[in-house]
Amino acid sequence: MRFEVTSLSPGFGGEITGLDLSQPLTRDEFEEVKKIYFEKEVVVFRDQNLTPGAQADFSRGFGDLMIHVLTQFQIQGHEEVLELSNRRDADGKAIGFEDAGRYWHSDISYNAEPALGTMLYAVEIPPEGGDTLFADMSAAYEALPENIKRRIEGKRAYHSYTINYKANESDAATRPDLTAEQLAKLEDVLHPIVRTHEDTGRKALFVNPGFTYRIEGVSEAESDELLQMLFAHAAEERFIYRHKWRAHDLVCWDNRSTVHHATVYDGKYTRHMHRTTIQGPRPV
Ligand code: SIN
Repeated sequence: MRFEVTSLSPGFGGEITGLDLSQPLTRDEFEEVKKIYFEKEVVVFRDQNLTPGAQADFSRGFGDLMIHVLTQFQIQGHEEVLELSNRRDADGKAIGFEDAGRYWHSDISYNAEPALGTMLYAVEIPPEGGDTLFADMSAAYEALPENIKRRIEGKRAYHSYTINYKANESDAATRPDLTAEQLAKLEDVLHPIVRTHEDTGRKALFVNPGFTYRIEGVSEAESDELLQMLFAHAAEERFIYRHKWRAHDLVCWDNRSTVHHATVYDGKYTRHMHRTTIQGPRPV
């Protein structure tokens, strides 16, 4: 293999060096990258030069690409690439989803078949702020006390996009009203609280404060108590890797075994990213 892997944190995450992702990888390279990606849960490739098409081609190697419900933030000609950006067009209209993901979440967990993985490419980043935090949900599950593991075993929880979208509303430009057509695609779903990773066989917590709001079959008080405890546990420092972006980073995360959290930055700077998401299976 002509590439190397170094650890990003003691628990999870890896940086892969020596690959140019704008060029096709050999079958062996691709299979090795895929194995590292799923085992490490977050992988970083620095100094990449990726057009939206090249990013989509690399992402598609891992599965079909998803089209985000906020279709107004797609890149023209590349419907599978979503812009996350605070750039505005000549009329002052947002060209991208500006405040995406400023809370712990797993991408698109509000779908019956949520995203397997996400690939985020940094086109322009602020000199400070705008880091992305990742939490290792396999390690978080493994570290739970046995009595909590027993309490959540076999239980399911509801995930919703609309509850979160409203709760995180900042201004009309960054969070335009969802249309009837968008709302029709956004029914709440039930997922197991603990899922088993299809590729590694590891169990991971699959709840997040962004989209999970209620545990099925228990009282509201018990649901709130358990969810708040699980959210706080998963956000403990020992499970976290903080990514400090550089322009031309491609960061790939596994939504089956991690949650992430975008952080704020000073609006006088530009943060412009391209995001692709890979279709995943129904969690079990
Ligand atoms: C996201 O949740 O996909 C956005 C993450 C980020 O912009 O750092």
